[in-house]
This record gives sequence, structure tokens and C-alpha cells, in this order.
Amino acid sequence: MSLNEKQVESGDLIPSLDRSTDEVAWDLYRKAIRFGTWDPAAIDLSQDKADFESLDPDLQGYLIHFCTGFLDAEENVALKFCPWIMLGSSTEQQAFLSTQLLEEFKHTEFFMRYFKEVFGKERIPGVKNIVQQKLDDRVKKMLAALEQGPGDREAALVEGLTHYQGIIEGVQAMTGYEVFEAVYGSKGLLPGLAEGFARIKEDEGRHVGFGLRMLKLFARNPVHAKRIRAVYDDYLPYILIRYDQPVVVNGKEYPTPPEVRGRERLTKMFERRLKDIFGKPAAV
Ligand SMILES: [Fe+2]
Ligand SMILES: [Fe+2]
Repeated sequence: MSLNEKQVESGDLIPSLDRSTDEVAWDLYRKAIRFGTWDPAAIDLSQDKADFESLDPDLQGYLIHFCTGFLDAEENVALKFCPWIMLGSSTEQQAFLSTQLLEEFKHTEFFMRYFKEVFGKERIPGVKNIVQQKLDDRVKKMLAALEQGPGDREAALVEGLTHYQGIIEGVQAMTGYEVFEAVYGSKGLLPGLAEGFARIKEDEGRHVGFGLRMLKLFARNPVHAKRIRAVYDDYLPYILIRYDQPVVVNGKEYPTPPEVRGRERLTKMFERRLKDIFGKPAAV
């Protein structure tokens, strides 16, 4: 396990508050340049194809549904990420955030390849993620804020960081890695997907680490603290139903494996993120 993976699991993701945000952003930018160089096209997926073909049909159906959720999410955030870069308030911050944009496209590429080479089919339609759908409005608000004064820009950035780094990456994606591990990875299945997730998690360590550090700093201002908490609270009902939806692949419904325990994992991750930002356990 790399240091980064350990940090992701322990929740100890947040770079020090002692240095300035620009120093941290530049350090993460340099880390992305030097270490974020994995190639989604280079991961060996041959064993995954064999594993998938011999999987129980229920676990095959669930895997297609699960990976569709990841592909949809990675692609959606990649396509909509530019306003987060544009609202960065310095060259250093924008430089770091630009590495995140490229990395989200790399994650998208990995899952596109997985569908083509392992499943031999397209992603399925209709996997619901309301928190992702809400990015459409978020992007509009953030772009509008670019035309406004510094206070409005900062408020839009705080809400954008909460929505994206704080919830989509910090709660939903992190829970997804746990679900993969519980259902497939811990059984030694799908080593290519396990490696893809390990690489993605390293990238996410930088993304979530930077985002949570910003939120922790912004939360020192009571107006921003209220704003951050309101976004978490507004989205909590949508977050919790993520794994409760029916799993339907090509018109056939599949059971959700008992190891998923979506609601329980999501609730824990939600509480962990609030603790990261506000420094105390949250009442959910
Ligand atoms: Fe990603
Ligand atoms: Fe990310």
C-alpha cells in the first residue's frame, strides 16, 4: 500500500495549514507533474476479461452497473471542471487544478477502455446520481460568479469545492473504492480494475486533499462554514440513495450484493468529511 493509499484510508488527506495555499497548490502541481504519470492504456486487463467471463451472472450484472456509475461520474466531472480552474485565485492554484482536469479525463479513459475490452459492450443507460446531475446548475452559478466581485466569486468557489471535492470525490468516489474492494477486490478478482482504482486513488488523494484543505480554511469564516454545511445537508438525501436504486442491465434486474452496504458506508464517509472540515463529529 502506498503512502497515499494509507492517507486516503485513514482520512488523513489534508496538507498542512502552516504553509500558504499557493505553496501547497504549487507543491501538488509539481507532484502531479512528477508522479501523476500513469497511463490508463498501459494497465493489463487480460485477467479481468477472464475473471468477468467466469463470474456469477449476478456479480457480472452488478459490476456493469457499478462501473457505469464510475464512468458516468468521471466523464461528467471532466467535462464540467473548467469553472473550478477559472475561479482559482492565483497562478499556483490554477496550475494545480489544471492537472486535476487532465486526470479526470484519464480516469474517464480508463473506464471507457474497461467497457470496451472487458465487458465488450457500451455502458448502460439510466444509472442515477442526482448529486452529479446538480453539477449542471453548479457550473452555471460558478460561471456567472466570474463576472461578479471577489466576495461572490469566493462564495461560488466555496460551494463548488464542497459539491465537487467535498462530496463527489470526498464522499461518493471514496465510498465507491470501498464497495469495489468489498465485493470484488478482497476476493482477488479483477486485478486490472484494482490497479486502475489504486492509480485513481493516488490522483484523488491530491484532489480531495487540496479541496478539503481549502474548505477547512474557509470554514474558519462562519459565513462560509454555514454555506459548506448547507451544501452537505442539502445533498445528504441524494447521497444516501446512491446504492439503493434497482440494478437493471439490458432489461434484467440484478440483486445488490450484501457486501455493498451503501447507506452505511456513505454515512460514515459523510461524517468523516465533516470532521475533516469542522474538526468535530457531525450530527447526521
Ligand atoms: Fe476522477
Ligand atoms: Fe478527482
